Amino acid sequence: MQKLIGPFKQVLTMNNLPSKGAISDDMLEIIEQGGIVVENDKIIEIGDFQQLNEKYEGRTEIELIEREMVALPGFIDCHTHICWAGSRSGDYAKRLSGKSYLEIAKEGGGIDSTVKQTRQASVEKLSALTTERANTMLQNGVTTIEVKSGYGLNIPDELKMLNAIKEADTLADLIPTCLAAHIKPKDFNGTQQEYLDLIVNELLLEVQKNKLASRVDIFVEEGAFDVDNARKYLQKAKALGFDLLVHGDQFNTGGSALSVELQALSVDHLESSKEYEIEQLAKSDVVATVLPGASLGLGIPFAAARKMLDSGVCVAIASDWNPGSAPNGDLLMQASVLGAYERLSMAETLAAITERAAKALKLKDRGILKEGNIADIVAFSANDFSEILYRQGALKPVRVWKKGKPLLSSQQRRE
Ligand code: NIG
Ligand code: FE
Repeated sequence: MQKLIGPFKQVLTMNNLPSKGAISDDMLEIIEQGGIVVENDKIIEIGDFQQLNEKYEGRTEIELIEREMVALPGFIDCHTHICWAGSRSGDYAKRLSGKSYLEIAKEGGGIDSTVKQTRQASVEKLSALTTERANTMLQNGVTTIEVKSGYGLNIPDELKMLNAIKEADTLADLIPTCLAAHIKPKDFNGTQQEYLDLIVNELLLEVQKNKLASRVDIFVEEGAFDVDNARKYLQKAKALGFDLLVHGDQFNTGGSALSVELQALSVDHLESSKEYEIEQLAKSDVVATVLPGASLGLGIPFAAARKMLDSGVCVAIASDWNPGSAPNGDLLMQASVLGAYERLSMAETLAAITERAAKALKLKDRGILKEGNIADIVAFSANDFSEILYRQGALKPVRVWKKGKPLLSSQQRRE
């Protein structure tokens, strides 16, 4: 099936932007009165609507856009934990009353409490919860979503989580990551290293055999895993062929330097990264994924995204949606707020949730509206792209296309 979608007041392609460092708004490619020709799930041509209309006349259907809209690539959330059961609103209340994230974790709240609730949930229940959250994101224009395990923390429950992600009934593309190395679970009687060895020697082989994930993440932090154990773990995972990710520099540094040393795909959080860490990241190809939702959830400063961009780092922005540190889940709102505080250009913020986020997921077929890429498109009712971030997340998409298929909120689930 072939169709021409348009005319859009503006099509923001996100094409031809630098892959690292600062971006100014005048670098954005904007097609005024643009059209997008889609065949099956791919974009086959993009350009001036009138010209495309003449070229394809009689050969193609037209999906007419009757009011002023700005189109851009479907958003990509490259770091989430949307597969979980239960709630941590109690932790949130304690934080508002003055306790820190690490203190609450030591008192039996934190990740452990979600592990307990997630272990009790069936794979069907977890899958339904993941589906619901993914569909909320899809409605907000997020067409590709990374989803981590990490609340099972033993072999059967980690496999259950990864199966729940695989079975989620959503049109959004879910990219699974094994985060069995989130923390050492309370009921494991052994050292950090023994736990990580068990994960590598048993779980990862099973994950690989069943094609449940090709990416491995670890939380490098006080109360989670230290740098030396993380290094050994990641080296072994790499030798098995997994792509590497690190939760790093959230409260204490160490994780980002390790990610550079091991050439991870991305290092995520970075709220405590300083000059040295930023310098190392700038010299590398590691994507620095900043998580404003975790700063908002914990009431801590944002990662130094401006400094990172000015130093030449590739910065992506993700929601980190999880029940503990980042319960909000609204990527566009969080990216807009980070942009306001960190003085990011609109181009930098939008690139961080499209093409730079695609890089963090090693996906070459999305994040940019161009010929050959999949037709994941989000459109806002606006006459200029600047309206989108200006509304700080309050302006929601009016249209979302996933692989060329238009979605309405009530039609997001697969028939
Ligand atoms: O990315 N920092 C570690 N892991 C998650 C939080 C998980 C949780 O608190 O449940 C994060 O913020
Ligand atoms: Fe996270």
